[in-house]
Amino acid sequence: MNTDPASYICAAIRSVPDWPKPGVTFRDITPVLQNPRSFRVLIDLFVYRYIGQRLDLVAGVDARGFILGSVLAYELNLGFVPVRKKGKLPFRTVAEEYTLEYGNAAVEMHTDAVRPGQRVLLIDDLIATGGTMLAAAKLLQRLGANVVEAAAIIELPELGGAQAVKATGLPLYTVCRFN
Ligand code: PRP
Ligand code: ADE
Repeated sequence: MNTDPASYICAAIRSVPDWPKPGVTFRDITPVLQNPRSFRVLIDLFVYRYIGQRLDLVAGVDARGFILGSVLAYELNLGFVPVRKKGKLPFRTVAEEYTLEYGNAAVEMHTDAVRPGQRVLLIDDLIATGGTMLAAAKLLQRLGANVVEAAAIIELPELGGAQAVKATGLPLYTVCRFN
């Protein structure tokens, strides 16, 4: 029986070779979410880490960060705010651009999503180059949030994103590392 929660979660992640293109191994969290036991263990890992940390909000990154972030916010009795891909939010927004392997992308938030000084946990499923997480953190900070920590299920150390996030002074928590 696997009794260590983190290694149980990491073992449940599916690795799909050569997707979405040759040479990339896609780390697929859908089996973790699909199984009620692993879904609960995963969310409980985050609850255990963040309960009692005087957080005000959970911010989740489009799209897989929404799945984790909204459930976690509910469990922690907190509100949830989305960090969306550009062009999806209807009200006044702020945007932050970041670099992808080919070209640029941008994430957006509503200007009233966070009040200055609010203690926010930022969550996504995976950190690769770190571009998405860093752009999301910058957006929150521009709105005056105190981003207490960034969290993800998976980090890919070879792509340097976790290092890049930590280099900005933002604490980062991840459950699994894959090379
Ligand atoms: C994936 C993943 C992270 C991001 C990580 O999202 O869910 O958000 O890439 O990559 P990075 O660290 O190099 O920025 P994707 O942009 O594929 O969007 P999706 O969640 O809508 O699939
Ligand atoms: N986002 C960026 N790189 C990824 C990977 N290898 N697996 C899943 N999502 C990703």
